[in-house]
Amino acid sequence: MAFETIIVEVEDHVALIKLNRPDALNALNSELLKELGQALSEADQNDKVRCIVITGSEKAFAAGADIKEMSEKTFVEMFLSDFFGDHGDAITKIRKPIIAAVSGYALGGGCELAMMCDFIIASDTAKFGQPEINLGVIAGLGGTQRLTRYVGKSKSMDMHLTGRFMDADEAERSGLVSRVVPGKKLMDEAMGAAQKIAEKSMLSAIAAKEAVNRAYETTLTEGLLYERRLFHSLFATEDQKEGMAAFAEKRQAQFRDK
Ligand code: CAA
Repeated sequence: MAFETIIVEVEDHVALIKLNRPDALNALNSELLKELGQALSEADQNDKVRCIVITGSEKAFAAGADIKEMSEKTFVEMFLSDFFGDHGDAITKIRKPIIAAVSGYALGGGCELAMMCDFIIASDTAKFGQPEINLGVIAGLGGTQRLTRYVGKSKSMDMHLTGRFMDADEAERSGLVSRVVPGKKLMDEAMGAAQKIAEKSMLSAIAAKEAVNRAYETTLTEGLLYERRLFHSLFATEDQKEGMAAFAEKRQAQFRDK
């Protein structure tokens, strides 16, 4: 399917989705969010795709929701359309693993989009922020909730109340990103991680994703039980037999998602 605001390529079992509004630093307008939702859903249903990478440009992953599109909206329009409601849900319902490869600005909705992915690999030029307070609003795509879970209350409050940006080193120290690499190596690193994931059994990859995400939604006791039951259930799969046999036979496992 042809898109206007994103570019999608599928290669070696990885769907690479590139945000493509260079004149607006990839600001997330309705069209981009709609196309991103469609592309993610197609990738999720495509048997050839085993992992998804979302990226932007060198200068900006995304500089936020599109301020120009929102500026004249009224409370009634925002409230009755439940603005952003669908988009957040569309991304977090994707079952296959999603990596955000972030270079440059990831601000406002851009930071929130990165946080909706399963993990973030950042270039050393990355800058994260929730500067909505400078516009007389607050985050609306999950920033107050997800950033707080990633980095804790103190740093999250600091980011949301002062609107300051966090550089890549601070983001890694705080647990917001999993790895920081030199800018030139960002896509190799992200695609390499995606390839590694693509080699695993899709059954265990999806189970791992669901179990980690459950940690944000439930008590420790319930989460531990949920994990243990998923772990038990994987013993019903051929991939578990293959994975453990391959270990004993000192060879690479050949997973078949069965
Ligand atoms: N929405 C719409 N357009 C944007 C934009 C945004 N969020 N961010 C940048 N642009 C546009 C600029 O208007 C400019 O367009 P023109 O050339 O037509 O004027 C173009 O992108 C380049 O931007 P700058 O000239 O500003 O580039 P810069 O290098 O001087 O500054 C920047 C870069 C610091 C990221 C600055 O663009 C900026 O502060 N952007 C806004 C960041 C922001 O406030 N994000 C939060 C948005 S609200 C939100 O996201 C709500 C939510 O929670 C969902």
